[in-house]
Amino acid sequence: MSEILLKAENIQKSYAGVKALKSASFELLSGEVHALIGENGAGKSTFIKSVTGAIQPDSGILEVCGNKITENSPTFSKSLGVAAIYQQPALFPELSVAENIALGYEKGGFFGRVNWKKRREKAKELLDQIGAKISPDAEAGSLSMPQQQLVEIARALGANAKILILDEPTASLSEEDTNNLFRVIRDLKAKGVGMIYISHRLEELPQIADRVTVLRDGETIGTKEVKDIDRDEMIRLMVGRELSQIFPKRDVRQGEIVLELKNLGSKKAGVKNINLTVRAGEIVGIAGLVGAGRTEFARAIFGLDEADSGEVLLNGISIKNSHPRDAIRNNIAYLPEDRRKHGVILDLPIASNVTLASLKILSGRFGLNFAKEKELAAEYTRRLGVKTPSIHDSVSTLSGGNQQKVALSRWLLTKPTVLILDEPTQGIDVGAKSEIHNLMTELAEQGVAILMISSELPEVLGMSDRIAVMQGGTIVKILDRNEATQANILALALGH
Ligand SMILES: Nc1ncnc2c1ncn2[C@@H]1O[C@H](COP(=O)(O)OP(=O)(O)OP(=O)(O)O)[C@@H](O)[C@H]1O
Ligand SMILES: [Mg+2]
Repeated sequence: MSEILLKAENIQKSYAGVKALKSASFELLSGEVHALIGENGAGKSTFIKSVTGAIQPDSGILEVCGNKITENSPTFSKSLGVAAIYQQPALFPELSVAENIALGYEKGGFFGRVNWKKRREKAKELLDQIGAKISPDAEAGSLSMPQQQLVEIARALGANAKILILDEPTASLSEEDTNNLFRVIRDLKAKGVGMIYISHRLEELPQIADRVTVLRDGETIGTKEVKDIDRDEMIRLMVGRELSQIFPKRDVRQGEIVLELKNLGSKKAGVKNINLTVRAGEIVGIAGLVGAGRTEFARAIFGLDEADSGEVLLNGISIKNSHPRDAIRNNIAYLPEDRRKHGVILDLPIASNVTLASLKILSGRFGLNFAKEKELAAEYTRRLGVKTPSIHDSVSTLSGGNQQKVALSRWLLTKPTVLILDEPTQGIDVGAKSEIHNLMTELAEQGVAILMISSELPEVLGMSDRIAVMQGGTIVKILDRNEATQANILALALGH
């Protein structure tokens, strides 16, 4: 018999009048992977925070491993066996792997006498348990994102976690790293650990989850066995309406070549010999595995890493972007991948964040046109469905996915000549996703040349006119829309 690890009933939480949770209920059994899904702003992270003790719910019943919780705190929930892993790993980058793992199980003794050998052995044992080939002596900050995630899981194991919470763990993982994580999750399941699994990648749920609970507007809509619910029904429950077409790609008449890269290379970025053209109105998808050099390639074009060989032509004229400033002056826009870090200014209001890059459009002879700013910000936040009571609230009050929408709308608004999007819909819910695809098509119709990096093959296949597949820092092949398939892209990306 499975034991009930977590029981939450009618959890409520308001922030300054905003009801983040109205009535969230959830149950987790030992050895169960229970998915929690819902649109951006539905309340998933808020619910998780109530369980980890990061916030205090206003009301409701919370029971962890049979203990009724009246006053929660991070230390208390940890002592009951709760551990959480967030999309952005939360390790101490300057400390070694072994030290980070020790922080999970050593109590207070961190500044006392330390048995280094034992610490290292314990770290190795825990890493071995999850099949992670990572040295206990490595500096945490030097590890890749997926490796850091594994260290966090090892730390949770070391802390004897019974309840493991994974908040969008695969959002920026490659297929291979995702499969590896799933293997670790299955092992933990067999050990009786219960896991709450948050993801916007609905297609992965049948592979990994036992049950799924849908949150909408802070309320639990229902819980089902994963085998009894398909993707369409999940979406219907999440958005409460039928969703229009998934990839609304329209045929756009293409114009002249806008961007041309000739043998482009950057030693610093680790990319070489890149040849590619993008026409006005064209969307070129960039596919490849993590580490293939896709983001690095974008950084070289945008001047974040200097290109030291080859040439960039913009409308036939050779340009040099040694700094993002140059790229912006050349009307090239870049939406970086790591938007939670670089995409938004948390303390500024939503409206200013949206219009930040478009100040040129907005400033006239008499200074900034605030009415116009408000109007544009309102239009874009409405179209992307940013969930907020007011566009004058600061971005820090938004959910993760809604912050991403704000970062994205800023660049969509600049009407650039070339738009480079790095994982534009990562962490974004299904409804907003198709709206972002719509906006991309609109920009293409206005003659913008678009480069879209995406790890989601259905998105690459659905939205691109041509697909450049990268491997080992260069483009190995450019496929036409009608010849590209999931299988041939993957084969090229793997170097077959
Ligand atoms: N500190 C805060 N102040 C004000 N409002 C907040 C705060 N934190 C969250 N909210 C609001 O609570 C609601 C739920 O947010 P939450 O982060 O739980 O959503 P989520 O389901 O995790 O979404 P996502 O998929 O985008 O991560 C949102 O409307 C959000 O704007
Ligand atoms: Mg969230």
